Amino acid sequence: MKIGVISETIQGERRVALVPNVAAKLATSGFQVVVQANAGQKAGFTNDAYRQAGMAVEADRGAVLSTADMVLSVQPLCLEDVALLRAGATTISFLQPATQSAIIEALAAHDVTAFSLELLPRISRSQSMDALSSQASLAGYKAVLMAANRLGKFFPMLMTAAGTIPPARVLVLGAGVAGLQAIATARRLGAVVEAYDVRPAVKEEVKSLGATFLELELEAQVGQGGYAREQSEEFLTKQRKLLAERVAVADVVVTTAAIPGRRAPLLVTAPMVKSMRLGSVIVDMAAETGGNCEVTQSGQVVEVDGTWVDGTTNIPSTVAFHASQLYASNVTNLIQHLVSDGQLKLNFEDEITKGCCVTYNGQVVNERARQMMGATTSSQAA
Ligand SMILES: NC(=O)c1ccc[n+]([C@@H]2O[C@H](COP(=O)([O-])OP(=O)(O)OC[C@H]3O[C@@H](n4cnc5c(N)ncnc54)[C@H](O)[C@@H]3O)[C@@H](O)[C@H]2O)c1
Repeated sequence: MKIGVISETIQGERRVALVPNVAAKLATSGFQVVVQANAGQKAGFTNDAYRQAGMAVEADRGAVLSTADMVLSVQPLCLEDVALLRAGATTISFLQPATQSAIIEALAAHDVTAFSLELLPRISRSQSMDALSSQASLAGYKAVLMAANRLGKFFPMLMTAAGTIPPARVLVLGAGVAGLQAIATARRLGAVVEAYDVRPAVKEEVKSLGATFLELELEAQVGQGGYAREQSEEFLTKQRKLLAERVAVADVVVTTAAIPGRRAPLLVTAPMVKSMRLGSVIVDMAAETGGNCEVTQSGQVVEVDGTWVDGTTNIPSTVAFHASQLYASNVTNLIQHLVSDGQLKLNFEDEITKGCCVTYNGQVVNERARQMMGATTSSQAA
């Protein structure tokens, strides 16, 4: 089977879907890998590194797309790329079903079998393939560094001859994969950290990282599979009221709260931002899905009433080397799950395959993807 790896073309995307040492493992399993020239450049992987790992490097993007049995990318392919794929080819990437319905319809129309990493079921068996988690973890780490970089204060407590500097106070809202990594990073930098999540199950994890779990007088909001469920406006109003005093005393607030497939809940209002001390920092990791903070501007850093509000999107891309390495491992583990004896062998009884296969046999076969796409009823499930 021939695997093609293409350069990412979305602005600001520095990651690459496969890195040399991981690609070498695929080669030893009998896969032939061809990489578009300079695909790994922005993530720190040279063409020579791919060649030394036994990969072919191809200057012509069209040649990679039109000859590969399977094409790997981080972001969804564009329509022009899809048009070049062979009928019967396979793609693996993030596919963003909520916003990329035209691409998904095109993949189906071209008889491409497309897998979406966002839809991978998050079960124990799929942990090694879970690109959402690997990327969220890096993003949580980097979000804290971004905050530390912008804050005009020290994170750790410091005793100097000129006086004692108290530690920074960091509040993390949402203690999932990204939030826990943010807590760990802020703690390593010496900050005093508080965290809150609507899933009480994370309390012990938060405490084990040396942070305080905020006990708010609120009902747990746990839905299917142990994930957060969508919260009522009444709940969120109460939550904001209870959080207000913790936000006001924080030097840094990192918000990571998300509900799968829904707009991010509003946790920090404009008056709450105003209540913060001058020079405080909010990093809103939910900026891409509507933001947890009322004044966040997606993709921008703004100063509002003296507080920096960072709405940087695609944070994993700013840690492109390791983000690519982990993504490549996730994708390779998925490939090994889907392919045997050099052939794609799909078993739709398998939760992983069924969960993340979006197009197959000319149709959009994934119920969740169709819901996210606001999909037509014309496509039939497998
Ligand atoms: N393979 C697996 O078993 C697997 C893989 C990944 C994640 N998980 C589990 O799922 C959890 C969440 O995953 P995620 O990080 O992708 O979540 P996510 O990115 O969807 O959400 C981030 C966090 O925000 C929280 N949240 C939602 N609304 C909130 C609100 N109003 N206030 C405060 N917090 C709020 C959620 O509970 C979640 O912890 C993980 O911590 C883990 O326990 C399991």
